[in-house]
Amino acid sequence: MTDYIKEVKGFQLIDSRGNPTVGCFAITDGGYKGFAIVPSGASTGVHEAVELRDNDKTCFLGKSVNMAVDNINTEINDVLKKEKFFCINEIDRRLIELDGTENKCRLGANAVLAVSLSCAKALSNSAKQPLYRFIGGENATSVPVPMMNILNGGAHANNNIDIQEFMIVPHGIETFKRQMQAGCEIYHSLGKILKDKGLSCGVGDEGGFAPNLQSDEAALECICEAISVSGYDTKQVGIALDVASSEWVKDGKYVMKKSGKTLDAAGLCDYYERLIGKYPIISIEDGVGEDDFDGWKILTERMSDKIRLVGDDLFVTNTKRLKQGIERKIANSILIKLNQIGTLSETLDVMQLAVANRYENIVSHRSGESEDSFIADLAVGTNAPFIKSGAPARSDRVAKYNRLLIIESEL
Ligand code: PGA
Ligand code: ZN
Repeated sequence: MTDYIKEVKGFQLIDSRGNPTVGCFAITDGGYKGFAIVPSGASTGVHEAVELRDNDKTCFLGKSVNMAVDNINTEINDVLKKEKFFCINEIDRRLIELDGTENKCRLGANAVLAVSLSCAKALSNSAKQPLYRFIGGENATSVPVPMMNILNGGAHANNNIDIQEFMIVPHGIETFKRQMQAGCEIYHSLGKILKDKGLSCGVGDEGGFAPNLQSDEAALECICEAISVSGYDTKQVGIALDVASSEWVKDGKYVMKKSGKTLDAAGLCDYYERLIGKYPIISIEDGVGEDDFDGWKILTERMSDKIRLVGDDLFVTNTKRLKQGIERKIANSILIKLNQIGTLSETLDVMQLAVANRYENIVSHRSGESEDSFIADLAVGTNAPFIKSGAPARSDRVAKYNRLLIIESEL
């Protein structure tokens, strides 16, 4: 490659929740441009890279990101301008070195990631390659199955459901196009079922409904009904749960506030086994807490031959954390969120490590998103088997699904 990054320019933009976030333009010497907007989590893991916010209570309730944007426009731009970078790995390595901290808290993971992703896009445009090809080369051949969040509980909803996310997964349907059709039809059927019960069809941050149902099981019943009335069976469409149990941890136990249950890790496993026995659940994310390695061991030993056990807060897209997990033989899948680690290269490293150790990669959005569809190309570029991008509704969520519909037609 002969083209290099000439300049980067940061912006404070607004995310899908109405909070400030970082955007960045990168321009190559040959005039090719790349633009990226970074996402933001709400139920973030404690081991994630740090998002830099101004904490000025008079500005966006403390959430403005002017310092992160300034870091792009001064320090980072100065370095990129002075030293010529032709490749994304070198840019990312230099950004990590420039930041100098373990968790990117000096420059801000939001600043660093915006630069990393916009530079990757600029270089892929310069190479006249679609982004997924730039990321994965000729090996990038498969489109992921969507995990669509259609119903919410936990910290994401004011109802009696303890589990945070209920996703439908059309894994038994052939093409992405047909999978999306199924997802949309089931989403609308679920809306009608809830309306007929006199329940709210208001939605949460990720576009899933947040009705005032009485329990986790009531939610699962409604979803199964929606799958069936839409004309699909549970071999075609399964269910994935993000229980987000780190949110339940209190004094070494799991307190499920809404149902009033207090359980230990073994008790949680009993609960999950009961649900799996009754419903077509194919995956459970963060089934126990982010630092409960003993609990993860119990969960994995009891359930890893039956379903996917996904580490989100557990692994935080971090090679060191995943290595620990591999050594301890815990979980069998990893959630991939670019902003948990802060650069494209480090994300690709952890995904490679996962594949080498037979963990499945599930590429994911955050609850705070934008129109940026980078994760769609990331999923295809790495042949990830699944992508999690919220409901099949709302532009911040469907931007990724729409990009995948287009990529599928190209492949
Ligand atoms: P977050 O939620 O983006 O708020 O962390 C999504 C998840 O937990 O997977
Ligand atoms: Zn999660």
